[in-house]
Amino acid sequence: MSRIEQLIRDMTLSEKLGQMTMTASGYAVTGPIIVGDSTDSIRDGSVGNLLNIVGPGPTREVQKIAVEESRLGIPLLIGLDIIHGHRTLFPLPIAEAATFDPELWELTASEAAAEGAADGLAMTFAPMLDVSRDLRWGRTAEGSGEDAFVASRMAQAKVKGFQGSDLAAADRIAACAKHFCAYGPVNAGREYASVDISERTLREVHLPPFVAAVNAGVATIMPAFTDLNGIPMSAHKGLLRDYLRGELGFDGVLVSDYNAIGELIRHGVAADLVEAAVLALNAGIDIDMMADAYRKGLPIALERGLVTMDQIDASVRRVLKLKEQLGLFDDPYRRSSRVETADALLHRRQIARRVAAKSIVMLKNDGETLPLPRTTRRIAVLGPLADAASEMCGCWWAAGENEPNVSVLAGLRHAMPDVELRYATGTSIQGDDQDGVDAALTLIDGSEAVVLCVGEAMRMSGEAASRAYPSLPGRQSEFAQAVLERAAQAGIPVVSIVFSGRPLVIPELASRSHALLAAWFLGTEAGNAIADVVTGAVSPSGRTPMSWPRALGQVPIFYGQRPSGRPFSEGDFFTSKYLDVGNEPLYPFGHGLSYGRFELSDLQVTPALATRNDRIRIRVTVTNHGTHTAEQTLFIFSRDPVASVARPVLELRGFGKIGLNAGEQRVFEHHFEARDLAFLGVDLNPVFETGDIEIRVGPSADQRLQQVQKIQVVKS
Ligand code: IFM
Repeated sequence: MSRIEQLIRDMTLSEKLGQMTMTASGYAVTGPIIVGDSTDSIRDGSVGNLLNIVGPGPTREVQKIAVEESRLGIPLLIGLDIIHGHRTLFPLPIAEAATFDPELWELTASEAAAEGAADGLAMTFAPMLDVSRDLRWGRTAEGSGEDAFVASRMAQAKVKGFQGSDLAAADRIAACAKHFCAYGPVNAGREYASVDISERTLREVHLPPFVAAVNAGVATIMPAFTDLNGIPMSAHKGLLRDYLRGELGFDGVLVSDYNAIGELIRHGVAADLVEAAVLALNAGIDIDMMADAYRKGLPIALERGLVTMDQIDASVRRVLKLKEQLGLFDDPYRRSSRVETADALLHRRQIARRVAAKSIVMLKNDGETLPLPRTTRRIAVLGPLADAASEMCGCWWAAGENEPNVSVLAGLRHAMPDVELRYATGTSIQGDDQDGVDAALTLIDGSEAVVLCVGEAMRMSGEAASRAYPSLPGRQSEFAQAVLERAAQAGIPVVSIVFSGRPLVIPELASRSHALLAAWFLGTEAGNAIADVVTGAVSPSGRTPMSWPRALGQVPIFYGQRPSGRPFSEGDFFTSKYLDVGNEPLYPFGHGLSYGRFELSDLQVTPALATRNDRIRIRVTVTNHGTHTAEQTLFIFSRDPVASVARPVLELRGFGKIGLNAGEQRVFEHHFEARDLAFLGVDLNPVFETGDIEIRVGPSADQRLQQVQKIQVVKS
């Protein structure tokens, strides 16, 4: 008999439920404190998994109790949120998505896994794969933006990065695809609100990233807090048991979100913890995080015949199997025994700087304001985020606060030692503080450029951080206008750097700034990375993974909309439009400038007649007419103008990068499988229809910048 089966045979009900329970140690607060100190419960086997404890010392201590003092000596599974780096913070996921570089996505997950593992963790609750098309939703910061294809590529890369090819390796940890499913379209962007979407949108947009994660071998999945069309995800038998386990064949561990099983009561589908536990177990959730519903409810449910011991055993088996795969039975201390060298830490900071620089999106650069000329001698560095080192973390850094972050001012000082940097905050991030405005404006006189650092506070995005006014908070808009005014009088350019966990609604700042950088929150090396871009050491290459609206009323705004029977037509009143703002975003998905000047020509797509078994090959010539070496990101879209179901005006089929020296010309190549053109037909089953398809290649979702070629899809 295998070790696992032997254990299951020997376990009491309380020990089994212990393996199905995860409680917090209190190190990090990610929800209400429900279950207190776990030491005795670990000893008596009634807690088998912990979250929010970190560090080799503390994790060893609790692991030792489990292994040496509990009756069966089963090691603990210890998890913590590693959302964008562990001790070394990388850019927020929405920022990292802007690199459109799956190798980097994998690398940062791999580095974070190594750091987390050395801190005694065997599991993380990441990546977040929820597609977000509503920037009011704070958790936009934790995902990859508006597109399902991008989220699916992110899923593959992150799962591979965290888990590697051997989960038992001392520097690998189990990933958790979250939050299953469709958490992004919460009503009106309000956190934890209800979700009401069509089956088609669910299957076309919100499920694919999770399919990708399952195909990549993700070890665990977390259901969302939210309800989907009336059924809370923690009780969603149809999606968890039938779809995830049945259709997709996911045989890993389903771990609930924090107290989510208990919250089934407030959702209004369970009267008490017993009913809540029954719903969750019947839906297939293996581990109850923090509700204490399984320990309290399942013994009663068993007595009443509402669940069976076989169901409990199946969950315990999956949890023990994961512990076995993680190598915990063989050596529960294998991860925390690994000592991270100083070289490894330094190397990680270098990676953090590289990724941060690549995450910056240059939204605007009129008159080649950036990079700042080398002759510049005096710069006014203004704004409440200019020297805000700790804010650079962005939201959700469970263990990263110990790292010294680099502010913009510090980064610029380091990069420009001979330049006089005249610094003032001017105003606070939030609140009414305007005492410093005059002093800040004075610094503009006699300067040759202004670097204006404005945006959200780091905690204004992330969980429970939805915003109804997602623009510059506090008095920053007024301050920015005053700066722009004074700089205009002084005849000097303003480079605005916006920090945020989401696109913001900033049409005025965008129109009046000479250059505009979306810096998101870039983590530990933020200031150095920004200095790299501002000085021209690095040409910006980030592209926005979410559309930036002109007005909040345009939200949700995304490129992959369906065409409408009355698409907007100038001068035609009864067409799809607003009376008070255009339909187009301020900056579309994929937008981002660089110091290169790129031109596309001669798009070739083969074969011209494609069957479902063909591979579609794309070749396009790219020329850098600029004077800087730079990297161009290209997006490959398809457009199906006539199909049995109206298709979105553009569908992403791929993306890639090409680096070119000044004056260089080369061919960019890409391919995708023709079978990927299949879509969900009228009855929601996949169909592959014949007909013309446009293949469009361009630097963003702006159709005016794309090269187009038609191919014909035929029966084989
Ligand atoms: O992983 C998180 C989840 O995203 C939100 N609630 C708390 C969990 C554990 O910290």
